[in-house]
Amino acid sequence: MHLRCNNRKCAHTLDLHERAVACPACGDLLEVVMDPPNLEPAALKRTWLERRMSNASADSSGVWRFRDLLPGPYDPAALVTLSEGNTPLVHGLKTGKSAGLDRLFFKHLGWNPTGCFKDLGMTVGMTEAKYVGAKIVACASTGNTSASLAAYASRAALEAHVYLPSGKISLNKLAQALDFGARIVEVDGNFDAALDQLLETTNKDIYFLNSLNPFRVEGQKTVMIEMMEQLNWQVPDYVITPGGNLGNTAAFGKALEELKTFGFIDRVPKLVVVQASGAKPFADLWKSGAEEITPEAHPETVATAIRIGNPRSWRKALHSVKYTGGFVMDVTDEEIGEAKALIGLDGIGCEPASATTLAGLRKLRAEGKLDRDATVVAILTGHALKDTDYILKAHDKLSDPQLTEVPS
Ligand code: F0G
Repeated sequence: MHLRCNNRKCAHTLDLHERAVACPACGDLLEVVMDPPNLEPAALKRTWLERRMSNASADSSGVWRFRDLLPGPYDPAALVTLSEGNTPLVHGLKTGKSAGLDRLFFKHLGWNPTGCFKDLGMTVGMTEAKYVGAKIVACASTGNTSASLAAYASRAALEAHVYLPSGKISLNKLAQALDFGARIVEVDGNFDAALDQLLETTNKDIYFLNSLNPFRVEGQKTVMIEMMEQLNWQVPDYVITPGGNLGNTAAFGKALEELKTFGFIDRVPKLVVVQASGAKPFADLWKSGAEEITPEAHPETVATAIRIGNPRSWRKALHSVKYTGGFVMDVTDEEIGEAKALIGLDGIGCEPASATTLAGLRKLRAEGKLDRDATVVAILTGHALKDTDYILKAHDKLSDPQLTEVPS
């Protein structure tokens, strides 16, 4: 197992535990290259199920349960874990009707320890940070990464610095970062400016834990492994996910590619990425077929988690979408608002960014681009309580959200 530059034209390699933020040859992102696991797929699928019955700390984590496809080796006692993962696949009832889909499932990553999918990557990233002897960990964030980093840093007894776009993130998320004891650096500007500022820091003691950290991507891969297990390894037709900085898209594609290459599945679901119309550089890249992404200088959307104009993982994400035969689309803030209200009325709830998924599905069905009987897994990335201000404001404005079925 080793690190490799994600730009296949460069493909520079490094040792797995070398402490590098980016490729020393070309400055692009690094990724972990996995070795095939020691056991056959059938045996590993059994082992992963058996671990669910174990109370050992490494087994009760829905990330480390799949450690055979993760970096390591780490001493089980040294894992920085909060029993993340193990999130359910919830059948969309009213939401399925509203989208005209019979087999819609939500993989709710908001039901993680800090209320967001970031915990899945953070447990691996923080464990690696400790392994390489880091003292300070840091990220820029639209809110969720900072909450997760702060919690896991506390567990690891490391100092946490979080760079946040001033006045641009949900107060619930800021409150979490404060509660978990992070040092807050407010940046005048948006997320992209905050990330630039962090990356310019010359403090050599800082270990970066944004999703450009390849170890975080590895943890987020387990979403696809756990989803496949929950579907008894019957491959769904589509997985649909919000796209911001595109770490999740990168992770999901990597997981699906590894599962197929190593013989766990014989085909892959199409990966569909949904961006907000006001922050859609990746959707634009997809549409234009350009070679490089053009950053959006002034991203704007009510879904503050994905208000990102310069997604750093775009190259990995593009590979993921192409590999799975999927596509990229965007939805308006109004469509996000309606979809979010519908997910709430289904007794599930999520934060606005997550609702891009249902909004995207409703649009695809209305345009006749998706079959009623397709099996679809929509990834809900954050908990409803992540942005209560949005809910309270929306209920001042919204009349009854439309529960009418999309005609087939
Ligand atoms: N959904 C939520 C709730 C998020 O917090 C994020 C990203 C995304 C979707 C997009 O995921 O970046 O992997 O494409 N939040 C980051 C943060 C940027 O700082 O919390 P992505």
